[in-house]
Amino acid sequence: MASNSQNPRRTFAIISHPDAGKTTLTEKLLLQGGAIHLAGEVKARGQARRARSDWMKIEQQRGISVTSSVMTFEREGITFNLLDTPGHEDFSEDTYRTLTAVDSAIMVIDAAKGIEPQTRKLFEVCRLRSVPIITFVNKVDREGRDTFELLDEVADMLALDVSPQGWPIGMGGQFEGVLDFTTGMVARPEGPSKEFKGRRDKDPVLPEKFADEAELAQAGYPEFDLEAYRNGDLTPVFFGSALKNFGVTELIEAIADFAPPPRPQPAGDEQISPDRDEVTGFIFKVQANMDPNHRDRIAFMRQVSGTFKRGMKLTPSGHGKPIAIHSPILFFAQDRELADTAEAGDIIGIPNHGTLRVGDSLSEKNLVRFTGLPNFAPEILRRVVLKDPTKTKQLRKALDDLSEEGVIQVFYPEFGANWIVGVVGQLQLEVLISRLSAEYKVEAVLEPAPFDTARWIRGSDEAVATFEGFNRANLARDRDNDLVFLARSAWDVNYQQEKHPELVFSATKER
Ligand code: G4P
Repeated sequence: MASNSQNPRRTFAIISHPDAGKTTLTEKLLLQGGAIHLAGEVKARGQARRARSDWMKIEQQRGISVTSSVMTFEREGITFNLLDTPGHEDFSEDTYRTLTAVDSAIMVIDAAKGIEPQTRKLFEVCRLRSVPIITFVNKVDREGRDTFELLDEVADMLALDVSPQGWPIGMGGQFEGVLDFTTGMVARPEGPSKEFKGRRDKDPVLPEKFADEAELAQAGYPEFDLEAYRNGDLTPVFFGSALKNFGVTELIEAIADFAPPPRPQPAGDEQISPDRDEVTGFIFKVQANMDPNHRDRIAFMRQVSGTFKRGMKLTPSGHGKPIAIHSPILFFAQDRELADTAEAGDIIGIPNHGTLRVGDSLSEKNLVRFTGLPNFAPEILRRVVLKDPTKTKQLRKALDDLSEEGVIQVFYPEFGANWIVGVVGQLQLEVLISRLSAEYKVEAVLEPAPFDTARWIRGSDEAVATFEGFNRANLARDRDNDLVFLARSAWDVNYQQEKHPELVFSATKER
């Protein structure tokens, strides 16, 4: 099918530590893209208008913006889908999973701080899936660290080749612009605000120190290599200032030129190509309504192949009953015709009443099951204790629902009365308690659990049964009734793994 090559997509996310400048850069990218089309702004008739108002109602009730989860803009014939990764101090599985739906990422680093903990964590998730990364060293208009030191830190801490694509000519008070290695031009600050307004000097005279540095950098670091970048082994590095507009155009051009188009996605032993005729996709995020009277949810599907049309029937892998998708939220919505279709690489928001779960695959004809959408071993485990013990049934329902939505993971121990919830970030626990109370009228508290982490157990039926016989006190079942080992420490995991080489203690579970 030619649709993708005619209408190229770049589906990407920005990863960074809070405060590095993700929001500022997002705004600048959208502005540069010119056309900011958020689905809430789409002018549409009939079916489409109904979809729009339903969805806006949900937004109002929830007090959050579904729109900002996916931002689509177009530039020079390319459609960019920018997926938001929630920007909390703390982060959650939502963030992890969003990264399963992108083809590439921009890593924003604060020039004064270098690689920070969250940048690193998110980077590791990208690496798991070989997601190629373009690095943007931000805030060079301010006093930052030595440029070589920053590059070496990225290379050493992340074990990546770095290929600088330009060089900051001074930082802070000495900042005189950014040299572009490809064109040899320097983007210059102008006016009292010292912003970049389009002035680029050809054959610039640079202060000796920086001319030497730039020369050294070009000779000393690897040249850009498209294949190494796309394999996730090399990152091109751009320097700029989101606030002052430096490097933003270069960054968009780099995504357009280097970043991969929609990649084939794994489904067991098969790779589903974006060119496949059939519409396929997977749910990477579910956002639920806070209003307890309406259990409406929006499931976000990353489209993997085919051309989606409004009203189309897709079958979820979970229960096999086809669902007609009459009111999809299409983020690519430049005009009315296009608002009715979507292509591989696009994101479709599907309103539903809880039928669609994170990790579900959808397809038109064959039941394709995408693999590689992992559940992550929780880093925080808590016992859920009810304030009112008669509410057990409601609690069970709530925990099942919320784990389906991916808010938490739930473990039902084989021994013991208290259920255990697991998360990767503290914030998820706060969300859990407030939603239990608001949506399910269940008041609960979380108490420390004697466990530190969890591992899914795999092995032959016999080996698993034997292990189960001896370790009941440390075993639980997850939402899908899969066996989970609750470990007291990382040491405990290693110990058991050494003792039981016939079993696999897995930190992730693919759905
Ligand atoms: P985040 O989403 O990654 O958390 O970062 P955000 O864009 O909110 O930026 C964090 C702070 O850094 C903001 O300042 C923002 O203005 C500033 N900033 C972002 N990019 C640049 C840059 O290129 N140069 C400089 N000098 N500053 C930058 P703030 O004081 O927290 O907010 P505000 O009061 O300025 O809005």
